[in-house]
Amino acid sequence: MPETTIAHVRYRTVYDSRGIETLEVDVITEKGFGRAAAPFGAPGSRGEFEAPAYARGGLRESMAILEKTVIPSLIGMDAAEQEKIDDLLQRIDGTPNFEKIGGNTAAVLSTAVGAAAADSLKIPLFKWFRRDEGWTLPYPLGNIIGGGAHSLGPAPDMQEHLIVPIGAKTVRQAIEINLRIHDRVGKLLEKKDPGFAGGTDDENAWAANLNDVEALQIIKEAADRISDEEGVAIGMGLDLAADRFWDPAGGVYRYDREGASRTARQQLDFLGELIVRFNLVYVEDGFNSNDYDSFSLLNRNFGDRCLICADDVYASNHERTKTGIGKGSAGAMIIKPNQVGTITGAKRTVSLARSHGMKIILSHRSGETPDDSIAHLSVAWNALMIKTGVKGGERLAKLNELIRIEQDFEGIRLIEWGTASPVNRA
Ligand code: PGA
Ligand code: ZN
Repeated sequence: MPETTIAHVRYRTVYDSRGIETLEVDVITEKGFGRAAAPFGAPGSRGEFEAPAYARGGLRESMAILEKTVIPSLIGMDAAEQEKIDDLLQRIDGTPNFEKIGGNTAAVLSTAVGAAAADSLKIPLFKWFRRDEGWTLPYPLGNIIGGGAHSLGPAPDMQEHLIVPIGAKTVRQAIEINLRIHDRVGKLLEKKDPGFAGGTDDENAWAANLNDVEALQIIKEAADRISDEEGVAIGMGLDLAADRFWDPAGGVYRYDREGASRTARQQLDFLGELIVRFNLVYVEDGFNSNDYDSFSLLNRNFGDRCLICADDVYASNHERTKTGIGKGSAGAMIIKPNQVGTITGAKRTVSLARSHGMKIILSHRSGETPDDSIAHLSVAWNALMIKTGVKGGERLAKLNELIRIEQDFEGIRLIEWGTASPVNRA
C-alpha cells in the first residue's frame, strides 16, 4: 500500500481566536499525518457569494455528514491524489458551492489531505502544493487600525486600514516593519485620544474612535517615520468590506461613524481622493459585491498606481472571477480557501486570475487558528501578498512559518513588488 493511503480521518471541534467552535480534521495515512482547522469570517463581513461555512443545520450537521458519508468514502483513498479527492468532495456535496456540506468542512478536509500527503512523502507543504520550482515569499499586508464588522463600539466605517512594506528586502524585515508600525500607531493613539485604552479588534488591529481619514493620517505619520528610520518604502491600503455599510434601499454607503453617506459615484470620487492623498497602493472591496461596474471604473482610473482588489465580490469563485475579468474590475484578488471549499477549486481560480495578469493575495479570516496552511499556499502560488494581520499567535503562526521557509530555503525570496501594473483593465 502506498505510504499516502488514508487509514483514518478524525475530527473534533476546537475554539478559534474569537472563542467560537470550529472544525478541525486529522488525516492519518500509512506513513504520515495532516491536520487543518477552519477559519471563519465575521457575520457582516463574510461574502454573500462565498460557500456557506457549514451545512444548513450548522456545524453539528456537517459533522454528522462527515461521519456518515464523507469519512467512509475517504478511507483507502490516496492522499496524494488531491484532485481526485477534491472532486469526490464536490460530488458528495452535489451543489456548485458546497451548500450541502459547507465550505469549511470541505476546506479542512482538502487541506488536511494535502498536509498528510506532504508529511507522508517528507516534503514541505508548499512544495507539495506546487511541485515545480519557482516558489516565492509574499509581502505581509498588515492590518493596523480596524473598524466595520470587526470592531465593537465607535470605530472607523471601513474594516481595515493596512500597510505593506513594499521596499523590504526580506520577509523577516517586512514582518518587523509591520510590527513596529503597529506599536508606533498604538503610542500615537494613546497620545492623541484620551479615551484610547489599548483595545483591539478581531484581527488585533487597533480599535480606535476615529473616522477613516483620521485613521489613515495616524498610520501615515507612523509609516513615514518608520520608513525614514529603516530606509524602506511603505505603502498604505484599505479593505472597505463595503457590503457591510451599503444600503441597497437608499442606494448609498452609510458612513455612520463619520456621519456621511455616499452614492456609488461619490464613493468612487472619495476613494480616488484617498488614493491620491495617501498614495494608497491597495484598495479592497471598495464597493458592494454586486457592483462590478464601479470596481471597473476605479480600476480604469487608478489601476496603474493602486491595486484594486476583489474579495467578497469574486469570493475566490471561478465564475465570479471570470465575470470580473471580462469587465476589468480588479488588478488583484483575495483567495480564501474556505470561500471556495477545496485546494483544487482555489487553485483553479488562481490560475485563471494569474493568466490575466492579476495579483494574488492569500488571506486569513477574522476568526483564525494557528493553522499555517495559507502561508504554504502563498509560497506555492506566488502570491504578491499574504493578508494575515500583524499580531496575535493565530496571525503570527502564518508569518513565523514564512520566516522559517525564508531561512531554510535559500533560493526562495520575496517576490518582486514591481509596480502596481495596469492589469486587467477593460
Ligand atoms: P472576514 O474578513 O474574515 O471577517 O470575512 C476578512 C476580509 O474581509 O478580508
Ligand atoms: Zn476583505
